[in-house]
Amino acid sequence: MYRVLITDNLSPAGLKILKETPGIEVDLRKGLTPDEVRVALHDADGIIIRSETKLTPEILKDQPRLKAIVRAGVGTDNINLPAATREGIVVMNTPAGNTTSTAEHTIAMMMALSRNIAPAASKLRDGVWDRKSFTGTQLAGKTIAIVGLGRIGLAVARRAIGLEMKILGFDPFMSVERAAEQGIELYRDIDEMITKCDYLTVHTPLSPETTNLIGAERLAKMKKGVRIINCARGGIINEAELAQAIESGHIGGAALDVFVKEPTPPDNPLLKLPQVLCTPHLAASTDEAQELVAVEAAEIMAGFLVRHE
Ligand code: MLT
Repeated sequence: MYRVLITDNLSPAGLKILKETPGIEVDLRKGLTPDEVRVALHDADGIIIRSETKLTPEILKDQPRLKAIVRAGVGTDNINLPAATREGIVVMNTPAGNTTSTAEHTIAMMMALSRNIAPAASKLRDGVWDRKSFTGTQLAGKTIAIVGLGRIGLAVARRAIGLEMKILGFDPFMSVERAAEQGIELYRDIDEMITKCDYLTVHTPLSPETTNLIGAERLAKMKKGVRIINCARGGIINEAELAQAIESGHIGGAALDVFVKEPTPPDNPLLKLPQVLCTPHLAASTDEAQELVAVEAAEIMAGFLVRHE
């Protein structure tokens, strides 16, 4: 029997696939401490995780039974890939399942930020009918710069075109022709692109190259009043420098779904700024996306373990 450990939430459709696969037994254990994950892995052939479980070198060391890690989601930054490679453990993700939900959340955050939806709703809930403080900004006719034109970046571009925005994009791997077909003006120089936008949204993985990609220097180059959106990974935009740029009045606001440390500590200065709208890493949290990634993750794991026989 192959045992698959699952330590984060996985939709029932994914669990069903695993439970109905002959030769696989499911060990569902949520809320484990890192040390409990390490010990539980001694008896596991595979593990399926979302973003809560962190698979560090210490956890992955000396796990002779463990053959595969499947990340139900896109980002693999909670898995130490060099350690997994060293230990001969295969790492797989589910790149497509949450594209639409993440793109929709990005657009929702941009709209909510531009129309002050959260502060206006909160004031009204407190019994205050305030129409003066919440004059917003229209999106039509504005320019959005998209850093990273992978699945999610392109899905955001398609939606922003529907909102009558002008689309700029930065991606070292995209051809000018393909970008043009998608209605995107492609830039090879991020520093040139960021001087031209009213909104900037990032859709790259977190890597040494993208950590602090947007910091004080680049924020200062942008037009006054630019709004920044991050539904990708905390750390692509330097949090402290973003907070300073907003406090100085140069950056108009930010909508953030992801943070360097998650859960982000309550004293994160960005949480206190009225120009900042935050959600707790919800972009992929829809019924549809969770079912798609769970099914994809279960099928990948079942296929891998069966093929591995
Ligand atoms: C992902 O990497 O797929 C998303 O950030 C969603 C998640 O962490 O579950």
